[in-house]
Amino acid sequence: MVTEPCRLAVLLSGRGSNLLAIHTAVERGDLPARLSLVISNRSDAPGLIRARELGLEAASIPLPAVGGRAAHERQILAALRNASVEWVCLAGYMRLLSPSFVECFPQRIVNIHPSLLPAFPGRDAQRQALEYGVRFTGCTVHLADAGLDSGSIVDQRVVPVLPADTLDQLTQRILAQEHELYPSALRRLLTEAWEVQGRRVMFAGEARTDVATT
Ligand code: GRF
Repeated sequence: MVTEPCRLAVLLSGRGSNLLAIHTAVERGDLPARLSLVISNRSDAPGLIRARELGLEAASIPLPAVGGRAAHERQILAALRNASVEWVCLAGYMRLLSPSFVECFPQRIVNIHPSLLPAFPGRDAQRQALEYGVRFTGCTVHLADAGLDSGSIVDQRVVPVLPADTLDQLTQRILAQEHELYPSALRRLLTEAWEVQGRRVMFAGEARTDVATT
């Protein structure tokens, strides 16, 4: 029996380096998926331009002049349904999703964030980490809900903050980890059995070790 690869969409607002990492993983056969659609809310997003250069189906869907978020999300949903998308990957998509949008893809919307959540949600996570003075930060792949970088955690990578780090150096080191973590977390979600247990995504075979109390 030949099974069809899973149909993914990437939603982005900017550079698109995580889109590129996902695309590379698909092309190499490391991710059993098809990148069916790229959507940007910004028509000038470099990631959207890159998607078109790669020959991917790519749509610019800006916030409409009337109708606000509800109208915007209706347009995005229509495009996703038109492309028969099964999973939505947020990759630098700078808009919050409404609960009704999230319900259209239950446990099928994934996000990547450049910190060890729940630390430093929101914008400028790398700057927040530097300013706070943590010695370790990293990146997180999580299922997206309607909150800000909330949702059950799929996987994380730790990145040390070095004493002499500039914002750019730290950002680049985290980004290098993001490019490995996102495709690898997606592969696990698509190919392994898993369920949400409380705040975490538990993969089959991951035993729950209860902490012994005295
Ligand atoms: C990444 O740092 C990602 O974690 C965050 O937004 C940034 C997007 O970068 N959500 P890119 O557009 O994928 O290069």
